[in-house]
Amino acid sequence: MEKKYLFSPGPTMLPPEVLLKMAEPIMHHREPEFEKIFAEIREGLKYLFQTKNEVLIFSSSGTGAMEGAVSNILSKGDKALVVRGGKFGERWGEICKAYGIEFIPIDVEWGRAVDPRRIEEALKSDPSIRGVYTQASETSTGVKHPIQEIAEIVKRYENTVIVVDAITGIGVFDLPMDQWGLDVVVSGSQKALMLPPGLSFVALSDKAWKFVERSNLPKFYFDFKKELRSAQKNQNSFTPAISLFVGLRESLKLIQQEGLEAVFSRHEKLAEATRAAVKAMGLELYAPNSPSNAVTAVKVPEGISGGKLKNLFFEKFGITVAGGQDQAKGKIIRIAHLGYYERLDMVMVISALEMLLKEMGHAFELGTGVRAAEVVLME
Ligand SMILES: Cc1ncc(COP(=O)(O)O)c(C=O)c1O
Repeated sequence: MEKKYLFSPGPTMLPPEVLLKMAEPIMHHREPEFEKIFAEIREGLKYLFQTKNEVLIFSSSGTGAMEGAVSNILSKGDKALVVRGGKFGERWGEICKAYGIEFIPIDVEWGRAVDPRRIEEALKSDPSIRGVYTQASETSTGVKHPIQEIAEIVKRYENTVIVVDAITGIGVFDLPMDQWGLDVVVSGSQKALMLPPGLSFVALSDKAWKFVERSNLPKFYFDFKKELRSAQKNQNSFTPAISLFVGLRESLKLIQQEGLEAVFSRHEKLAEATRAAVKAMGLELYAPNSPSNAVTAVKVPEGISGGKLKNLFFEKFGITVAGGQDQAKGKIIRIAHLGYYERLDMVMVISALEMLLKEMGHAFELGTGVRAAEVVLME
């Protein structure tokens, strides 16, 4: 018998309620039936992003909204500051480059969070920086960046906005957009939103909308002004991924029923249990100082191949975990716990990790990881 489990930081496992909704016959996106769903989604997304402003929806992967957050916010000749502490930080730089935007990188050692003082220094020494681009959670390293502190700094600069890739942050830990003064927040569907890939989201502060007004970079599909006008009519500018919208209404309902606070504390618990388990097994965290509650990156013990371990997860147990990318390739595995995950899911994946590492020769006592996880989960 073959059973499959996703423990990758996107796509993630999906609730049956969402899957069933998406299997319903497709409707037309210019009919009142769809507009009603759209209206509910708009409210649900505002709750999730903790904003009074509109959350725009694009039928694309998360990178689409990231691209829009460059092409709609900046203008020709503007400069950006880019926090580069992993694959996704690098992506901000690549997008800026594609649009001819000069960017100053703040390079951060992989596995570490950015020191907000470096952002403060950069803004002080170069007041022509218009956007500070960062991740809330850098999925490639399992790091959480200090977004509230960065926002506090950026707030003091009238002509600069903070742009947060919260693709593995939204719905995982608290990122109160309006309260913290986050100007642009991006997310994607295949993460804590418990949907398949295919939708990206972006919300803007009033300050950021002023940047959109003057932005003169080329844009067409990811045109925020056009999409805002459509959203206000419960429409998309182009044909949306209709079935994903139907699923989204359902997943937002689930999030609202559980309540944001409970959602965040569930993620915290699952992440803490995972971290305690791997430490008890004698493994090291890749991001020990500022771990994200979305995904736990674990260093593979000396002499064991991370690539082989990842493959064995799937071959022996049907479990997909993520490996490391680029400089972390072969050195880490990443176990995700964002979205539709509960306590016993983590016990299962830790148990599989134990069995595999035992077979691969890592010295530890079977059951130590599971036990440590259980202790946290029972607290
Ligand atoms: C933090 C972060 N940013 C950006 C992306 C890119 O999103 P997508 O693959 O949906 O374009 C991801 C996806 O893994 C991510 O985790």
